[in-house]
Amino acid sequence: MELVVLTQGVCEVAKQAGAYIRNERSKFSLTSVERKHAHDYVSYVDKGSEQLIVSALRQLLPEAGFITEEGTTGDDGCAELTWVVDPLDGTTNFIHQYAPYAVSIALLQGHEVLLGVVYEICHNECYYAWQSGGAYMDGTPLHVSNQPLNDALLCLQLPYNSDAYKPVIKHLIDGLYGNVGSIRMCGSAAMALCYVAAGRYDGYAEQYIGQWDFMAGALIVKEAGGTVTNYAGDADFTPGNSVVATNGLFHQDLLAHIAL
Ligand code: IPD
Ligand code: CA
Ligand code: CA
Repeated sequence: MELVVLTQGVCEVAKQAGAYIRNERSKFSLTSVERKHAHDYVSYVDKGSEQLIVSALRQLLPEAGFITEEGTTGDDGCAELTWVVDPLDGTTNFIHQYAPYAVSIALLQGHEVLLGVVYEICHNECYYAWQSGGAYMDGTPLHVSNQPLNDALLCLQLPYNSDAYKPVIKHLIDGLYGNVGSIRMCGSAAMALCYVAAGRYDGYAEQYIGQWDFMAGALIVKEAGGTVTNYAGDADFTPGNSVVATNGLFHQDLLAHIAL
């Protein structure tokens, strides 16, 4: 199947999962919230969305394996092609009825991201890209911004691994606050990347995240003309747990802030 056709199919799957999440949100109660670890929440909605996505993707491409956040399939990401699925990125936002939150689906072949789809539920925006095909939001081509670092709107985040990341985020905010346009935390790694692709943010960095958080969004940034590496500056970000995504103009400067 052509990648562009497969991407369209995945957009439909993401929107179906998004419709399920939106419907469940309308009757959601805090009593449904469970904890995976301290401050790392999950509910039947994350799990229900994942089951829906996995069974639809199995029909779309039966030969592919899976890496999924909620473990519906076990880790069978050893096939040549692997779906990487976050069934609800921004669970804390979802629980608090606070935008954005999204479904994120990527298809990996080894260390290559072949396609990425992120469907944002609150604003009904579908972001997608396929390798060498460009990046789009609901049919409109996406392009990163051309802001320099001193006027950049950056997204930094607070991942669950607070013990490990606290010194890093303190250092980053200390170095960047007052020297860039401003800093935001949006609560969804997938959406932080899509907003870089759309030129809403100029850059984003986060560590201690899962592959499901950033594979789809990372391809969307690259196809929108941006630069994506891990925290060490490697262009092959796929096996790691960190991501730096920028409009490309100040990527090295942001990496230097991270490395200091
Ligand atoms: C989280 C969100 C959050 C990021 C965390 C992720 P989840 O994903 O993307 O923005 O800071 O590191 O784990 O748990 O809401 O799917
Ligand atoms: Ca996530
Ligand atoms: Ca999730």
